Amino acid sequence: MTRLFVPIDSTALSLDAEEVAEALALALKRQGAKAEIVRNGSRGLFWLEPLIEVETPAGRVGYGPVTPDDVPGLLAAGLLEGGEHKLRLGLVEEIPWLKRQQRLTFARCGIIDPLSLEDYEAHGGYRGLAKALTLEPAAIVDTVTASGLRGRGGAGFPTGIKWKTVLGAQADQKYIVCNADEGDSGTFADRMLLEGDPYGLIEGMTIAGLAVGATRGFVYIRSEYPHAFRTFKRAVANARDEGRLGTKILGSDFSFDIEVRLGAGAYICGEETSLLESLEGKRGVIRFKPPLPALQGLFGKPTVVNNLVTLSTVPFILAEGAEAYRDFGMGRSRGTLPVQLAGNVKRGGLVELAFGVTLDTLINDFGGGTASGRPLRAVQIGGPLGAYFPASLLDLPMDYEALAAKRGMLGHGGMVLFDDGVDLARQARFAMEFCAVESCGKCTPCRIGSTRGVEIMDRIIAGRDVEAQTALLRDLCEVMTDGSLCALGGLTPLPVLSALEHFPEDFKRPVAAAAE
Ligand SMILES: Cc1cc2nc3c(=O)[nH]c(=O)nc-3n(C[C@H](O)[C@H](O)[C@H](O)COP(=O)(O)O)c2cc1C
Ligand code: SF4
Repeated sequence: MTRLFVPIDSTALSLDAEEVAEALALALKRQGAKAEIVRNGSRGLFWLEPLIEVETPAGRVGYGPVTPDDVPGLLAAGLLEGGEHKLRLGLVEEIPWLKRQQRLTFARCGIIDPLSLEDYEAHGGYRGLAKALTLEPAAIVDTVTASGLRGRGGAGFPTGIKWKTVLGAQADQKYIVCNADEGDSGTFADRMLLEGDPYGLIEGMTIAGLAVGATRGFVYIRSEYPHAFRTFKRAVANARDEGRLGTKILGSDFSFDIEVRLGAGAYICGEETSLLESLEGKRGVIRFKPPLPALQGLFGKPTVVNNLVTLSTVPFILAEGAEAYRDFGMGRSRGTLPVQLAGNVKRGGLVELAFGVTLDTLINDFGGGTASGRPLRAVQIGGPLGAYFPASLLDLPMDYEALAAKRGMLGHGGMVLFDDGVDLARQARFAMEFCAVESCGKCTPCRIGSTRGVEIMDRIIAGRDVEAQTALLRDLCEVMTDGSLCALGGLTPLPVLSALEHFPEDFKRPVAAAAE
């Protein structure tokens, strides 16, 4: 039977993938065609979504972007055999945008039926756990350490070191917590994995449990991701039914189970201690560190808190070995990074490549420049608290240290593009406003500082006493950087100061122009 693939990923759904699937199902039934529709995740070529694919002897042939109205024409053109049509993209694997990538963590995303364990295993799934079950916990931790994997949630902390702390802690109960709050602007990697390869996360968390001696895991999914939540809950139920979660996993003596929780809808709940508070049923407010969550985390027990991409990368490392992962990348940034291209970009989507690729390659070769066709003026990397870089810095490599050296950060790998219509003074105001809205309120520099920051920015934008206000803004940024308890208040100055440094002209406009 011919297999057709229509994505069930949120981005594709927002572009009518459901209607396309329905139209296709109806037309196939009418024709009495021997064809099955598989609902896959997305490969991350968002400008081509809904991207439908058909399995042919030569490989999977793609068509996109498809509307429901295109369906009769596609079938008449011989869709089931990969026939010619104006939407035909050829073999999907050969599309240069995809072919040039180095997909390790996203190897299965968009290819498999996300809820089919059979498909998952046919594409290398559960090889990592099988290997981990032959190792001592310390050897699993050593493998992750040797791979050089650093947390993809933002801070880039070495995963192996975090796991070692939890492994060494003595307790009757330990936990694995997956941070799937994904609050950064322009990011969607966590969501794509939840919707496109959920067993990869389940396997990664199980390996983490085995490595540190934890028997229970929690996945905290942001409330804005209803499709991801639904898919992942189904995957957990299937895995439990098939003996992949629960007691005696894969016939071993190891027990591990996962609970899925919906987030509280606040950016600060992505911060690990706040997330733990929220998981415990309390308001998401930062906990003072120390103690580290690795020693006293969820319900006071030793807890691994890792980002979803981090955990989903672990099965590859165990299956292929630490070296296979470490061989990718540059300097201390090892392996691959799933970059998310968003904002004013022509070809938005997900690009997984070894660290070291330049911003220029990502933005211009992959992204195709701005969607508006106007010159690129700024790119913000690392979410709402990341720096704004000007087009003159596009030769920077994607690397934790290289971006930090230019007073920026990599964050979760999100890149938001802006054309020359952007006003960086207003973006600086937005950073302060974002902090004021999302602050947990625990410390003064962040809670009060961000509100004063918005007022200062308003005066600068209105052209009032600009020089003195700019000096005050710098002073305030210093206080927020040095005095904030967590990185929300501590990093808010980053976008503000980068805007001042790289785009000073936007802060010095004449009153008339500023007031319009
Ligand atoms: C304000 C704030 C928001 C954060 N939001 C997220 C988030 O949405 N997802 C995430 O994985 N980490 C987020 N983090 C980082 C987490 O606190 C934590 O470092 C991370 O989950 C650890 O996992 P990793 O080592 O795998 O990166 C945030 C941190 C701060 C300060
Ligand atoms: S910096 Fe802001 S978010 Fe962080 S603890 Fe202080 S008030 Fe809360």
